[in-house]
Amino acid sequence: MHIVAFNGSPRKHGNTYQTMAYMLKKFEAKGWTTEIVQMGSTGYGCIGCGLCRKNQREWCYQKSDPMFNEWFGKLLQADGVILGAPVYAGWLTPAMKGFIEKAAFVARGPIKRGGKYTVLRNKVGVAIAPTRRSGGIQTLQSLISLFAHTQMIMPCGGAWPITSFGTMDTNGLTTDPRGVQIVDRLADNMAAVLEMLHGNDQH
Ligand SMILES: Cc1cc2nc3c(=O)[nH]c(=O)nc-3n(C[C@H](O)[C@H](O)[C@H](O)COP(=O)(O)O)c2cc1C
Repeated sequence: MHIVAFNGSPRKHGNTYQTMAYMLKKFEAKGWTTEIVQMGSTGYGCIGCGLCRKNQREWCYQKSDPMFNEWFGKLLQADGVILGAPVYAGWLTPAMKGFIEKAAFVARGPIKRGGKYTVLRNKVGVAIAPTRRSGGIQTLQSLISLFAHTQMIMPCGGAWPITSFGTMDTNGLTTDPRGVQIVDRLADNMAAVLEMLHGNDQH
């Protein structure tokens, strides 16, 4: 099984990274492979050019965004996906927002060509939103819109996967034990769904 985590925080080793790393360790303990994609700080939203639809390809033709097609390829190859974005001004970061806009649009190409399913159908996805204290719900709603729009499967951890650190600092996950409990269960439940779908495949 292969799990890809997209870190939408400009801070490479901040709270989002630490939360993801905690979850990924649980998958690695099963012998599964993992990867964290650092998305950086620059956002490239969809400009609605429609070239992906016109050319009937799951591909973004805009050269201004150097990473989208590579990152979308990682989504296609993954069995499980974690999307993580810290709350910035009450919402998700521009890098993650731009990626979701394009990925959701491109993945639905086959439907626009008369098909029924997207190219991300039945992949398993979870989202996490680290905060100082507010804006987690709005951020999660936007993150999980990728899963909803592309017919992915979304396990749950028993509560909203919002970690609240009460500060801008990176003091370690232990400062939010309840948040850790939720993402711990979220990772367990994600693993359970993946095993139900694929067996305990250790590729
Ligand atoms: C520009 C900026 C805006 C932020 N806006 C919010 C906000 O609206 N609500 C909130 O609770 N935290 C806000 N924060 C705090 C971050 O969400 C919080 O520190 C988060 O844990 C950072 O994750 P990271 O270390 O992965 O970057 C903001 C931080 C920055 C830098």
